[in-house]
Amino acid sequence: MTYIFANWKMYLSYQEVRELSIALSQEDFDEKKLKITVFPNTINFSDVARVFAGRSFAVGAQNVGWTPQGAYTGAVSALLFQQAGAKYALVGHSERRYIFNEDNEAVHKKMEACLVEGIIPVLCIGETAEDLKEQKREYRIKKQLSKALEGLNLKGKEIIVAYEPVWAISAGGKGTPCTPADADNVHGWIKNELKQYTKQNVPILYGGSVDSKNVLSYVEQGMIDGVLVGSASTKLDEFVKLVRRVESL
Ligand code: PGA
Repeated sequence: MTYIFANWKMYLSYQEVRELSIALSQEDFDEKKLKITVFPNTINFSDVARVFAGRSFAVGAQNVGWTPQGAYTGAVSALLFQQAGAKYALVGHSERRYIFNEDNEAVHKKMEACLVEGIIPVLCIGETAEDLKEQKREYRIKKQLSKALEGLNLKGKEIIVAYEPVWAISAGGKGTPCTPADADNVHGWIKNELKQYTKQNVPILYGGSVDSKNVLSYVEQGMIDGVLVGSASTKLDEFVKLVRRVESL
């Protein structure tokens, strides 16, 4: 089973999101081989969830608030997303951490909120270019994992981890991907590290400048269970090509 998760970020207009989801929902993909999930913005979320209902796609939230209800202006809780049809939620995406100053404590609370509400959290982790230069990659990833997962009751709960080196994530479609061999190696030790938190086999996705040309070089690696695709998932032809390539394996 290969995971293909499409993070549409805030790339598209309201109308473009509608059009892209309607066009995608008309494609049939092999559900025995692929788990495809689309992460639209919050405004389009309910509409996209309706478009994909009963199709071979799941929908997920790009971010969740950790409190279920109350006086939290501007927040949208994991509970609300669950009620609107979210199966997954990204938690701790680097753009949340570094642009919106989300700290490890917030990430932990969001993980917990997802698990309580029955949403599968996709914990995003990864080192910055500076971490890499200072040889702190392992330190950063281990710390992000321990802060997010320590103390959580993961028994019988599904979680997913996305390894996304911050330096490899594209800005507006241009990025420098991590080499597949390097990513595979990091995935190997993340898998090992995860054994202290859960007995389940946690799928680990690679994210950072994945497109239709390089996707196979990632998913063919032994430790990479799928991909989290940003920019390349926002263009219909490019994304369909990417999915068809993985499906043909
Ligand atoms: P990218 O984004 O594919 O545009 O690099 C990936 C992500 O941030 O999830």
